Amino acid sequence: MRKNVSISTEELLFHLKKKGDFFSAEKLAQDLKINFKELKQAKKELEKWEYMIESDSKKGYKLAQIPDLLLPMEIKFDLKSKILGQEIHSYKALNSTNDLAFDLAEGEAPEGTLVVAEKQSKGKGRLGRSWFSSPKLGIWMSLILRPSILPSQAPGLSIAASLALVLTTKELTGLPAFIKWPNDVIVNNRKFCGILTELSAELDKINFVILGVGINVNHTERDFPKNLRNIATSLRIEKGEQVSRVDFLKRFLEKFEKIYLQYKKTGLLTFKDECLRHSYLLGKKIKIQVGSEILEGKAENLDDNGALILRTKEGLKTITAGDVSLL
Ligand code: BTN
Repeated sequence: MRKNVSISTEELLFHLKKKGDFFSAEKLAQDLKINFKELKQAKKELEKWEYMIESDSKKGYKLAQIPDLLLPMEIKFDLKSKILGQEIHSYKALNSTNDLAFDLAEGEAPEGTLVVAEKQSKGKGRLGRSWFSSPKLGIWMSLILRPSILPSQAPGLSIAASLALVLTTKELTGLPAFIKWPNDVIVNNRKFCGILTELSAELDKINFVILGVGINVNHTERDFPKNLRNIATSLRIEKGEQVSRVDFLKRFLEKFEKIYLQYKKTGLLTFKDECLRHSYLLGKKIKIQVGSEILEGKAENLDDNGALILRTKEGLKTITAGDVSLL
C-alpha cells in the first residue's frame, strides 16, 4: 500500500473533505493550481485507493465514500499530534509492523514514525507468543520512539501507552477500560489491546524503542479463533457497534504524544494516580511468573518507571516485567 501520493491528490481529498458537498471542477482546478486533465488524474488516483467520488457535469465532484483503510491520507487529516504519525508507512500486509519499524529505526527514520498494516502474517506477542492480526478488523501498529531515558525506565512507556489507550477508548466508545500491568488493556474482563515494546539499547542508553500496539477494533466473536474467544474481545463486541479505526488511531496518537512528552521529563510521576485509578490489578491478589520464578501477592502500587510493587509474604517486591494472572 505504501507509495507516495502526489500533492494534488492529497489536496483534492482535503478540499473535498472540507467542503463535504459538490465542489465545482473549475473552482477545484483553480484552488489546486492544476488543469482539468491533472484534476481528473488526481480523482482517478483517489479512486485507486478505494475512495468513491461522485461527479456531475454541472455540480462538479463530491466525496461519496471514504475507504475503511488505515491510509496515511486519512490518518494525517486534521491530526493534531506534532511528532507521532508525522511519517507514516502503511501496508496492506506485513509479517510484523514491529519488525519493519525496527529496520527503519536502525536507519534514519525519525522519532514518531508510524508503521501500520491491515494484516500481519507473523504478528508478534509478548514472550515469544503470536498475535492474531486478521485483515481490516484491528489496528496493528508500531511507533519508533527515541527517548533519552535509561533502559530501566522503558517499562513505563507501555504503561503510558496503556493509559492513552484507556482514555481514547473512553472518549470514543464510552467504555471503561483498564490497564492490566504490564502490557494489556482490558474491557469487561477481556483483553482487547496488547503492547509489545522492543528496545535497541546499551546498558545505560536507549538507542530506540519500538512500541508495538495491537488493538482489536471491529472483530465479532466469530472472527476470533476458538481458543481466544473466552479471553479476547473487541471494541465492537463490547460497544455493540463498529468503531472507526482511523479515528481511534488518530485520537490515540494525540493522547499518547502528550503523555509521552511528559514521561520523557518526569517518568510516570505526573500520570501515576491516573494509571492507578484505571488499574485492573490494583488491590487484587495475583500471581506473576518472572522467568522461572513464580511470585504471589497483592498488587500494591506502581513506581515512577512503571514497575509493579507487589506485597508478598516476604515484604514488598518491585517487578519490572512478568506474566500475570489473578488468583
Ligand atoms: C501481547 O499482548 O502479547 C502484545 C501484542 C502486540 C501486538 C502488536 S500488533 C502490532 C505490533 N506488531 C507485532 O508484531 N506485534 C505488535
